[in-house]
Amino acid sequence: MKGIILAGGSGSRLYPLTKIYSKQLTIIYDKPLIYYPLSVLMLGGIKEILIISNEETIPHYKRLFGNGNELGLNIEYALQAAPNGIAEAFILGENFIGKDSVTLILGDNIFYGYLDFLYKALENSNNGATIFGYQVNDPERYGIVEFNEKGEVLSIEEKPKKPRSNFAVPGLYVYDNKVIEISKNLKPSPRGELEITDVNNAYLALRELRVEKIGRGVAWLDTGTPEALLQASNFFGVIEERQGLKIACIEEIAYKMKFIDKAQFQRVIDGIPKSMYRLYLEKIHESE
Ligand code: DAU
Repeated sequence: MKGIILAGGSGSRLYPLTKIYSKQLTIIYDKPLIYYPLSVLMLGGIKEILIISNEETIPHYKRLFGNGNELGLNIEYALQAAPNGIAEAFILGENFIGKDSVTLILGDNIFYGYLDFLYKALENSNNGATIFGYQVNDPERYGIVEFNEKGEVLSIEEKPKKPRSNFAVPGLYVYDNKVIEISKNLKPSPRGELEITDVNNAYLALRELRVEKIGRGVAWLDTGTPEALLQASNFFGVIEERQGLKIACIEEIAYKMKFIDKAQFQRVIDGIPKSMYRLYLEKIHESE
């Protein structure tokens, strides 16, 4: 299983921040936004990861993660010259994906809670596509799943004016290798993008699309506006303070997932400047 984080785009709603880099580098409480989707892939056991972004931002990601080896990962980078659509990720990532299946996560999507929905999807990943459905209050802003009375999926609609359900499709998708061919055959939508919703509808037409509903115990947070970013920061601040545990701490996850051993974990800590973050990792190292 390969993993792709799509982390470019224009993000103009967050101007002036986005004048200097992509929104996926904004801080959510105590770490850059992209740590949250990266941690989801890592918790899914995915170690081979492609980060796709624009020319200005790739150097920042390289400074943050390098080739990922020190965390037991293998991170590569690819340039998306312009925001031509989410499905372009599979065309840009063709060589990286090779003959494998692939999980795509959008670099601005945050999930918090028990990830059983993802684990289940990853078990089935050689066969068709799995996407998810999450109940939201503002369905006109997302890809929306239409179900019939039997609960079967009839269609996926991108940002419908009259949504036929409240189930949005979050930016986390698990596909078999066919996704490359399907993406290559897409035509740009009226807004000029290769739409991920068209990929999902192509799988639906093949009867190979599964939509798993994510329960209310999982938080899928929005990061599209300054208010949403502040809410997400507060949300994680409250939980981290209460538990004394960090969320989306990629060094801790690499150690707990056994991507690295205790000696390597120590070397990683040694490379981190004196900070609350380092103190936290030292505590984890001592306690295990
Ligand atoms: O967040 C989930 C939603 O993401 C889905 O429900 C929709 O079906 C899907 O189309 C997408 O909708 P958005 O309107 O949120 O997409 P947006 O254009 O904002 O792009 C999502 C992220 O992907 C954003 O952080 C920028 C990045 N991106 C987007 C495009 C189109 C790229 O890096 N390159 C791109 O070409």
